[in-house]
Amino acid sequence: MKQIIIALVALCIPALSVAAGGGNNPYVVHAPINMDDKVSLQKGAQIYVNNCLGCHSAQYMRYERVADDLGIPHDVMMENLVFTTDKIGETMQSAIPADLAKKWFGGVPPDLTLQARVRGADWIYSYLVNFTMDESRPWGVNNNVFKDVGMPHVLQNMQDELSEEEFKERMADLTNFMVYMSEPIRAERERLGAWVIAFLVFLMLPMAYMLNREYWKDIH
Ligand code: HEC
Repeated sequence: MKQIIIALVALCIPALSVAAGGGNNPYVVHAPINMDDKVSLQKGAQIYVNNCLGCHSAQYMRYERVADDLGIPHDVMMENLVFTTDKIGETMQSAIPADLAKKWFGGVPPDLTLQARVRGADWIYSYLVNFTMDESRPWGVNNNVFKDVGMPHVLQNMQDELSEEEFKERMADLTNFMVYMSEPIRAERERLGAWVIAFLVFLMLPMAYMLNREYWKDIH
């Protein structure tokens, strides 16, 4: 009997440890993103190049693609969002040399082009809104979602300047952009869809007009 009870308890241990937070971090919440919201995606792109690209490349993405997908004119894109090159066809490289990053942060900041697919939108969003003060850490901060993270809280100023609600909105924009980046084909499909419809309208209208004329020709 005793052995059976011990065996039963042992069986429950893995389940208990998962419930205690292993893969179930209570800080990970739903990311309120909307891929159809172009303004949100544009804001997210801006936050990314201003606050993240310094350390994290997005090297599978080209500036030109971002501009076209998000409806940003090329000159506006070059002036406001492209700082590391003078060619809009260039990929999004980071500014920091890998060896320096390793020295300063103890690790190389990973490329983030596909990170939203690796971690999921909810994880990314929750990570961004969950930096906390922690004097025991090298940068004075820790993160509820990524324990003992090596990344400094680069959004501290933004978080201090905005209300909590606004800051969360901006982080949703940023997450939105990162999700777009990890699956840009979706925006491309929509863009193509608009062209296809415009093409059909331009093709069909004259044909409908001519057909119409042809039908009525003998009646008038
Ligand atoms: C000063 C350099 C720096 C900047 C700027 C920076 N990061 Fe980081 N980031 C790091 C480092 C270093 C790591 C690796 C942390 C680790 O492994 O402990 C990291 C890790 C991450 C991770 C976790 C990667 C993983 O393993 O899944 C994400 C997501 C992330 N950063 C997103 C961002 C976003 C979004 C921004 C812009 C708001 C940003 N970072 C700005 C240095 C930076």
